[in-house]
Amino acid sequence: MEKIIIAIDGYSSCGKSTFAKAVAAKLGYIFIDTGAMYRAVTLYGMRRGIAEDREALAAALPEVRIEFRFDPQAGRSDVYLNGECVEAEIRRIDVSERVSKVSSIPEVRAKLVAMQQEMGRTKGIVMDGRDIGTVVFPEAELKIFMTADPHVRAERRYNELLAKGEEVSLAEIERNIRERDRQDETRAVSPLRRAADAVVLDNSRMTIPEQMDWIDNQLERFR
Ligand code: DC
Repeated sequence: MEKIIIAIDGYSSCGKSTFAKAVAAKLGYIFIDTGAMYRAVTLYGMRRGIAEDREALAAALPEVRIEFRFDPQAGRSDVYLNGECVEAEIRRIDVSERVSKVSSIPEVRAKLVAMQQEMGRTKGIVMDGRDIGTVVFPEAELKIFMTADPHVRAERRYNELLAKGEEVSLAEIERNIRERDRQDETRAVSPLRRAADAVVLDNSRMTIPEQMDWIDNQLERFR
């Protein structure tokens, strides 16, 4: 099979990263979690106290260095902010609450989209986000739009955070997810929407093996 670009977009917490990671591992492709990049910029802004200040954050962008480094022990790539691994910190709920706002800043998007396009230059990549099939790689060979019931998504996120020992309420998480859906869909720059040629994957009632069978079917046409 010739190397292709697989663009995966969709709502938050619907298992995009888990699915994208599994697809990349299956094909021997590189997996890029673009949400982690927006989260890293948000964390940078929070640490400097400028996460809510659009202009200051845009002006500080040249000082923000984001990269992925492969951790062979964990078998995954971690995101680094100015040389520091921030993989755990960027998943905190206070970062989640601010990231939609930060990701609506055009200068932030311009910088990260350019980085993402560079990463996909040699193909053989699975990238997940909100605007991959519409803006980053409108020419991607395979575009997938993922969705799942908001309540199911909240329960999954709740169980993940619980397992990490974070004290959170299910209702709070569901509110946060619905609010992020709204912000992602209604923002002026690169709103979340399904590309006309994207195939929809609703995994509300699907196991991971079922999703892998589904992708096998999708990949048939590239073999
Ligand atoms: O996938 P995630 O929940 O980690 O994404 C975090 C935030 O980043 C989410 O609110 C939307 C934003 N995002 C974006 O605007 N564009 C992307 N390509 C990826 C994420």
